[in-house]
Amino acid sequence: MNFETIFKNNESWVEEKLKLNPQYFENLSKGQHPEFLYIGCSDSRVTAEDLMGVNPGEVFIHRNIANQVIPTDNNINAVIQYAVEHLKVKHIIICGHYECGGVKAALHPSDLGQLNSWLQTLRDVRRLHKTELDNIKDEQQLFDRMVELNVREQCMNIIKIDHVQRSWYKTGFPKIHGWIFDVKTGKLKDSGLDLEKEFMEIREIYDLKPLNK
Ligand code: CO
Repeated sequence: MNFETIFKNNESWVEEKLKLNPQYFENLSKGQHPEFLYIGCSDSRVTAEDLMGVNPGEVFIHRNIANQVIPTDNNINAVIQYAVEHLKVKHIIICGHYECGGVKAALHPSDLGQLNSWLQTLRDVRRLHKTELDNIKDEQQLFDRMVELNVREQCMNIIKIDHVQRSWYKTGFPKIHGWIFDVKTGKLKDSGLDLEKEFMEIREIYDLKPLNK
């Protein structure tokens, strides 16, 4: 892949879209009404729109290393607030993936400079689930399980957010989903987490509108 190819590809893409519908881009420019907010890893192999088979305008997307939701990250906070309050998305998806370099780095302690603070949340995931993870002797299984537990913990981080909770109380949305993409097979799976149930279990700690108020 060279630099020029990208612009040529773009021209062909525009042509294809216009062949299907001459007003394609005119319609696209009128606004966006996505029902989904997808938060995934920046990994070049995990191409959000491609793997979901969605079109422009259908999914609002945020990607960072190891699909993390860190409460002091202004970037993701702005994305979530905009998606929930203005776009009124019905679903928020955290999509992790097997063979995630960020997760792997967090499993092997070393000094990685600027990345240290970013990976700290992942190391916290390992600490939170230490008992379960310490019992896994197979390195690959441990890696895979860490990917799954990271998705769970990042989903939990979403339900702690004030914009999300306010929206729940008003509309019952957004629903939160944890997904895993398998780079080895190309398959996407829903991890089947019940975030409403999880929220009820930690409500006394994280609910910003306690029941007795
Ligand atoms: Co990754």
